[in-house]
Amino acid sequence: MIENWDVFLAPYKQAIDELKIKFKGIRTQYEKNSLHSPIEFVTGRVKPIPSILDKAIRKQIDLDKIGEEMQDIAGVRMMCQFVEDIKSVVELLRERKDFEIIEERDYISQNKDSGYRSYHCVIRYPVETLQGEKNILVEIQIRTLSMNFWATIEHSLNYKYSGQIPTNIQERLKRAAEAAFRLDEEMSLIRDEIQEAQAIFSRKK
Ligand code: GTP
Ligand code: MG
Repeated sequence: MIENWDVFLAPYKQAIDELKIKFKGIRTQYEKNSLHSPIEFVTGRVKPIPSILDKAIRKQIDLDKIGEEMQDIAGVRMMCQFVEDIKSVVELLRERKDFEIIEERDYISQNKDSGYRSYHCVIRYPVETLQGEKNILVEIQIRTLSMNFWATIEHSLNYKYSGQIPTNIQERLKRAAEAAFRLDEEMSLIRDEIQEAQAIFSRKK
Protein backbone atom coordinates (compact mmCIF):
# COMPACT_ATOMS: atom_id res chain seq x y z
CA MET A 1 0.00 0.00 0.00
CA ILE A 2 0.99 3.60 -0.46
CA GLU A 3 0.45 5.52 2.76
CA ASN A 4 1.33 8.97 1.42
CA TRP A 5 0.59 9.61 -2.25
CA ASP A 6 1.97 13.14 -2.19
CA VAL A 7 5.36 11.80 -1.09
CA PHE A 8 5.23 8.89 -3.54
CA LEU A 9 4.30 11.08 -6.52
CA ALA A 10 6.66 13.99 -5.76
CA PRO A 11 9.67 12.55 -7.68
CA TYR A 12 7.40 11.87 -10.68
CA LYS A 13 6.27 15.49 -10.65
CA GLN A 14 9.90 16.56 -10.33
CA ALA A 15 10.95 14.35 -13.28
CA ILE A 16 8.24 15.83 -15.51
CA ASP A 17 9.06 19.41 -14.58
CA GLU A 18 12.75 18.79 -15.33
CA LEU A 19 12.14 16.97 -18.61
CA LYS A 20 9.73 19.64 -19.85
CA ILE A 21 12.38 22.31 -19.24
CA LYS A 22 15.07 20.21 -20.94
CA PHE A 23 12.97 19.40 -24.01
CA LYS A 24 11.70 22.95 -24.37
CA GLY A 25 15.36 23.97 -24.14
CA ILE A 26 16.15 21.83 -27.18
CA ARG A 27 13.44 23.62 -29.12
CA THR A 28 14.82 27.01 -28.08
CA GLN A 29 18.29 26.04 -29.29
CA TYR A 30 16.96 25.16 -32.73
CA GLU A 31 15.10 28.48 -32.87
CA LYS A 32 18.15 30.49 -31.81
CA ASN A 33 20.11 28.83 -34.59
CA SER A 34 17.30 29.52 -37.11
CA LEU A 35 16.87 25.79 -37.67
CA HIS A 36 13.70 23.80 -38.00
CA SER A 37 12.95 22.28 -34.59
CA PRO A 38 11.85 18.65 -34.70
CA ILE A 39 10.01 19.43 -31.45
CA GLU A 40 6.93 21.61 -31.88
CA PHE A 41 5.71 21.53 -28.29
CA VAL A 42 5.96 19.45 -25.14
CA THR A 43 3.37 18.50 -22.53
CA GLY A 44 3.60 16.38 -19.39
CA ARG A 45 1.45 15.04 -16.62
CA VAL A 46 1.49 12.84 -13.56
CA LYS A 47 -1.20 10.18 -13.85
CA PRO A 48 -4.11 11.08 -11.55
CA ILE A 49 -4.39 8.78 -8.50
CA PRO A 50 -7.80 7.31 -9.54
CA SER A 51 -6.32 6.36 -12.96
CA ILE A 52 -3.30 4.76 -11.25
CA LEU A 53 -5.64 2.70 -9.04
CA ASP A 54 -7.89 1.74 -12.01
CA LYS A 55 -4.93 0.60 -14.07
CA ALA A 56 -3.38 -1.31 -11.13
CA ILE A 57 -6.62 -3.27 -10.81
CA ARG A 58 -7.06 -3.72 -14.59
CA LYS A 59 -3.49 -4.97 -15.06
CA GLN A 60 -3.30 -6.76 -11.69
CA ILE A 61 -0.31 -4.75 -10.57
CA ASP A 62 0.56 -5.00 -6.89
CA LEU A 63 0.53 -1.47 -5.42
CA ASP A 64 3.95 -2.14 -3.88
CA LYS A 65 5.34 -2.65 -7.37
CA ILE A 66 3.70 0.16 -9.34
CA GLY A 67 6.96 2.12 -9.44
CA GLU A 68 8.55 -0.64 -11.53
CA GLU A 69 5.53 -2.06 -13.31
CA MET A 70 3.47 0.98 -14.26
CA GLN A 71 5.53 2.77 -16.87
CA ASP A 72 3.31 5.79 -17.39
CA ILE A 73 2.83 7.28 -13.92
CA ALA A 74 4.98 10.05 -15.38
CA GLY A 75 4.12 10.87 -18.98
CA VAL A 76 5.66 13.33 -21.41
CA ARG A 77 4.39 14.03 -24.93
CA MET A 78 6.46 15.59 -27.68
CA MET A 79 4.63 16.89 -30.70
CA CYS A 80 6.29 17.23 -34.11
CA GLN A 81 5.24 18.92 -37.33
CA PHE A 82 6.46 16.17 -39.65
CA VAL A 83 6.66 12.37 -39.36
CA GLU A 84 10.38 12.64 -40.23
CA ASP A 85 10.88 14.76 -37.11
CA ILE A 86 9.87 11.83 -34.91
CA LYS A 87 13.00 9.86 -35.89
CA SER A 88 15.13 12.94 -35.18
CA VAL A 89 13.58 13.29 -31.73
CA VAL A 90 14.17 9.61 -30.96
CA GLU A 91 17.82 10.05 -32.08
CA LEU A 92 18.15 13.06 -29.76
CA LEU A 93 16.79 10.99 -26.87
CA ARG A 94 19.16 8.08 -27.62
CA GLU A 95 22.19 10.42 -27.50
CA ARG A 96 21.38 11.87 -24.09
CA LYS A 97 23.52 11.12 -21.06
CA ASP A 98 20.98 12.22 -18.43
CA PHE A 99 18.68 9.22 -18.87
CA GLU A 100 18.48 5.82 -20.49
CA ILE A 101 15.85 4.51 -22.90
CA ILE A 102 14.77 1.10 -21.66
CA GLU A 103 11.97 0.36 -24.11
CA GLU A 104 10.76 1.59 -27.49
CA ARG A 105 7.38 0.88 -29.07
CA ASP A 106 6.79 1.86 -32.66
CA TYR A 107 3.08 2.30 -33.35
CA ILE A 108 3.89 4.30 -36.48
CA SER A 109 5.17 1.63 -38.87
CA GLN A 110 2.54 -0.62 -37.26
CA ASN A 111 -0.47 1.32 -35.96
CA LYS A 112 -2.82 -0.12 -33.34
CA ASP A 113 -6.16 -1.65 -34.37
CA SER A 114 -7.91 1.48 -33.11
CA GLY A 115 -5.97 3.54 -35.66
CA TYR A 116 -3.65 4.95 -32.97
CA ARG A 117 -0.20 6.03 -34.17
CA SER A 118 2.73 7.30 -32.06
CA TYR A 119 6.28 6.36 -31.10
CA HIS A 120 6.74 5.47 -27.43
CA CYS A 121 9.95 5.46 -25.44
CA VAL A 122 10.16 4.48 -21.80
CA ILE A 123 13.14 6.05 -20.07
CA ARG A 124 14.75 5.55 -16.69
CA TYR A 125 15.31 9.02 -15.28
CA PRO A 126 17.26 9.78 -12.09
CA VAL A 127 15.73 12.29 -9.69
CA GLU A 128 17.60 13.69 -6.70
CA THR A 129 15.60 13.25 -3.49
CA LEU A 130 16.40 13.69 0.20
CA GLN A 131 16.85 9.91 0.33
CA GLY A 132 19.34 10.02 -2.53
CA GLU A 133 18.93 9.27 -6.23
CA LYS A 134 15.62 7.70 -7.24
CA ASN A 135 15.18 6.22 -10.70
CA ILE A 136 11.79 6.96 -12.19
CA LEU A 137 10.19 5.46 -15.29
CA VAL A 138 8.79 8.03 -17.70
CA GLU A 139 6.77 7.21 -20.81
CA ILE A 140 7.53 9.58 -23.66
CA GLN A 141 5.03 9.63 -26.53
CA ILE A 142 6.32 11.20 -29.72
CA ARG A 143 3.78 12.03 -32.42
CA THR A 144 2.88 14.50 -35.12
CA LEU A 145 0.29 17.21 -34.56
CA SER A 146 -2.04 15.22 -36.76
CA MET A 147 -1.54 12.00 -34.73
CA ASN A 148 -2.06 14.05 -31.57
CA PHE A 149 -5.34 15.51 -32.86
CA TRP A 150 -6.63 12.02 -33.60
CA ALA A 151 -5.45 10.50 -30.29
CA THR A 152 -6.96 13.35 -28.27
CA ILE A 153 -10.37 12.96 -29.94
CA GLU A 154 -10.29 9.17 -29.65
CA HIS A 155 -9.32 9.45 -25.98
CA SER A 156 -12.32 11.69 -25.22
CA LEU A 157 -14.66 9.30 -27.01
CA ASN A 158 -13.21 6.36 -25.07
CA TYR A 159 -13.82 8.30 -21.90
CA LYS A 160 -17.39 9.16 -22.89
CA TYR A 161 -18.18 5.54 -23.79
CA SER A 162 -16.08 4.01 -20.95
CA GLY A 163 -13.86 2.25 -23.48
CA GLN A 164 -16.83 0.79 -25.41
CA ILE A 165 -17.01 3.06 -28.44
CA PRO A 166 -19.96 2.02 -30.68
CA THR A 167 -18.75 0.16 -33.78
CA ASN A 168 -20.04 2.75 -36.25
CA ILE A 169 -18.04 5.46 -34.45
CA GLN A 170 -15.02 3.13 -34.29
CA GLU A 171 -15.24 2.78 -38.06
CA ARG A 172 -15.40 6.53 -38.49
CA LEU A 173 -12.40 6.91 -36.21
CA LYS A 174 -10.44 4.46 -38.33
CA ARG A 175 -11.27 6.50 -41.41
CA ALA A 176 -10.27 9.67 -39.56
CA ALA A 177 -6.96 7.96 -38.66
CA GLU A 178 -6.38 7.22 -42.35
CA ALA A 179 -7.13 10.85 -43.18
CA ALA A 180 -4.69 11.97 -40.47
CA PHE A 181 -2.08 9.61 -41.96
CA ARG A 182 -2.64 11.12 -45.42
CA LEU A 183 -2.33 14.63 -43.99
CA ASP A 184 1.08 13.68 -42.57
CA GLU A 185 2.08 12.24 -45.94
CA GLU A 186 0.97 15.35 -47.84
CA MET A 187 2.82 17.62 -45.42
CA SER A 188 5.97 15.51 -45.80
CA LEU A 189 5.80 15.92 -49.58
CA ILE A 190 5.92 19.71 -49.28
CA ARG A 191 8.16 19.75 -46.21
CA ASP A 192 11.07 21.59 -47.89
CA GLU A 193 8.70 24.26 -49.16
CA ILE A 194 7.08 24.66 -45.73
CA GLN A 195 10.38 24.81 -43.85
CA GLU A 196 11.75 27.45 -46.22
CA ALA A 197 8.64 29.56 -45.64
CA GLN A 198 8.95 29.11 -41.88
CA ALA A 199 12.62 30.12 -41.97
CA ILE A 200 11.78 33.33 -43.84
CA PHE A 201 8.95 34.05 -41.43
CA SER A 202 11.09 33.47 -38.32
CA ARG A 203 13.88 35.76 -39.64
CA LYS A 204 11.26 38.50 -40.03
CA LYS A 205 10.16 38.22 -36.39
P1 GTP B 1 -1.63 0.95 -21.33
O1 GTP B 1 -2.29 0.00 -20.40
O2 GTP B 1 -2.61 1.96 -21.87
O3 GTP B 1 -0.40 1.57 -20.77
O4 GTP B 1 -1.20 0.08 -22.58
P2 GTP B 1 0.18 -0.69 -22.78
O5 GTP B 1 0.86 -0.94 -21.48
O6 GTP B 1 -0.09 -1.84 -23.68
O7 GTP B 1 1.09 0.37 -23.51
P3 GTP B 1 0.81 1.13 -24.87
O8 GTP B 1 2.12 1.53 -25.39
O9 GTP B 1 -0.08 0.32 -25.75
O10 GTP B 1 -0.05 2.40 -24.47
C1 GTP B 1 0.46 3.37 -23.63
C2 GTP B 1 -0.26 4.69 -23.83
O11 GTP B 1 -0.39 4.98 -25.23
C3 GTP B 1 -1.69 4.77 -23.33
O12 GTP B 1 -1.74 5.07 -21.97
C4 GTP B 1 -2.23 5.91 -24.19
O13 GTP B 1 -1.79 7.18 -23.71
C5 GTP B 1 -1.59 5.66 -25.51
N1 GTP B 1 -2.43 4.82 -26.36
C6 GTP B 1 -2.23 3.52 -26.66
N2 GTP B 1 -3.20 3.05 -27.47
C7 GTP B 1 -4.05 4.09 -27.69
C8 GTP B 1 -5.25 4.25 -28.46
O14 GTP B 1 -5.76 3.34 -29.11
N3 GTP B 1 -5.84 5.48 -28.44
C9 GTP B 1 -5.32 6.53 -27.74
N4 GTP B 1 -5.97 7.70 -27.79
N5 GTP B 1 -4.19 6.41 -27.02
C10 GTP B 1 -3.56 5.22 -26.99
MG1 MG C 1 1.69 1.17 -20.86
